Amino acid sequence: MEHRRLAGGSGGVPLRGGPMAMGQVGSRFRLIEVLGPEQALARLAQDVRAGLTATPKYLPCRYFYDDEGCRLFQAICELPEYYLTRTEQAILEAYVESILQPLPPSVVLIELGSGDARKTRVLLEALIRRQKSLLYVPIDISRTALVESAHRLLQAYPSLEVTAVAAEYDDGLPYIAEVAGDPPKLILWLGSSIGNFDPPEAVAFLRRVRQVLTPEDVFLVGMDLHKDRAVLEPAYDDPQGVTARFNRNLLVRINRELGGHFDVTAFRHRVVYDEVRRRIEMYLVSAWDQRVVIEALALEVLFAADEAIHTENSYKYTFEDIDAIAGAAGFRRVGQWLDDRRYFSVNLFRLTE
Ligand code: AVI
Repeated sequence: MEHRRLAGGSGGVPLRGGPMAMGQVGSRFRLIEVLGPEQALARLAQDVRAGLTATPKYLPCRYFYDDEGCRLFQAICELPEYYLTRTEQAILEAYVESILQPLPPSVVLIELGSGDARKTRVLLEALIRRQKSLLYVPIDISRTALVESAHRLLQAYPSLEVTAVAAEYDDGLPYIAEVAGDPPKLILWLGSSIGNFDPPEAVAFLRRVRQVLTPEDVFLVGMDLHKDRAVLEPAYDDPQGVTARFNRNLLVRINRELGGHFDVTAFRHRVVYDEVRRRIEMYLVSAWDQRVVIEALALEVLFAADEAIHTENSYKYTFEDIDAIAGAAGFRRVGQWLDDRRYFSVNLFRLTE
């Protein structure tokens, strides 16, 4: 298969970085860093100020994923209560051949929010069996997760090439056409990451994805399904307290990166399933009246006892919701795979003609 080689910032898309030294696999690996560390810090500062001076207070959930947050999220994925990862994995393993069956004989594999790419392996392996060699383009905000997972994958699969894009989703999208070139694309968005967007934001984001797709491309999206709160709430409030640590790590990050003075033990982890909006809501709740200084923002934030910072929504879908969101964004569903308990769905979309 022929791939266009990136030789620098062509097409007006600025490139940072280049091929990284990775021992024997280095020639098959390329890392593009879209945001420099100073810009990333400036964005964090701006978003933290906006969220903590708003009423009610909030923090964007994308800031969970510093190195420790990625590690904690991996631990969440192993929890018995967090059924999402293992259920999606089981669906992919059981149905990989029928998922890939309608695809063109050779594709470039793109993944949004790849994380440690563990679930991707089943698709990677099946694609390599089909087409012998493969270009994989993971896009993720965690540079560390990208580099570590690429290293593992490249060692395991000698005919794989990886061009990793370290970026937030929106910043990463313009690189898709740039990096993938002409062959048809299979885009993955697994783990129900779509659920961390409010539905109008999800539709708006899918429309932006649509703009980088052609009619022969396919888009595979994992979406968690609406179910009893007795299953949902423990998945986000596990007895071992891993999700609580993941949630509080946001404050640890603000302390480290912005000179915050949060006493993280003074914030409780709270989870509720809103059955009307069909979303898990995650909060950090102030245990008492307190004031917290954030030095880099020259900001003092006042918290009343029991006041909450809204840190995450995780939407759960009905089958109607799935088709409505996809349809509003200009996609039609051409496949859907479920587990026996109907806990999770893997959906294949194409552009609506
Ligand atoms: C990444 N995202 C889909 C996870 C979710 O289930 O919403 C993040 C998460 N938050 C708490 N546990 C897991």
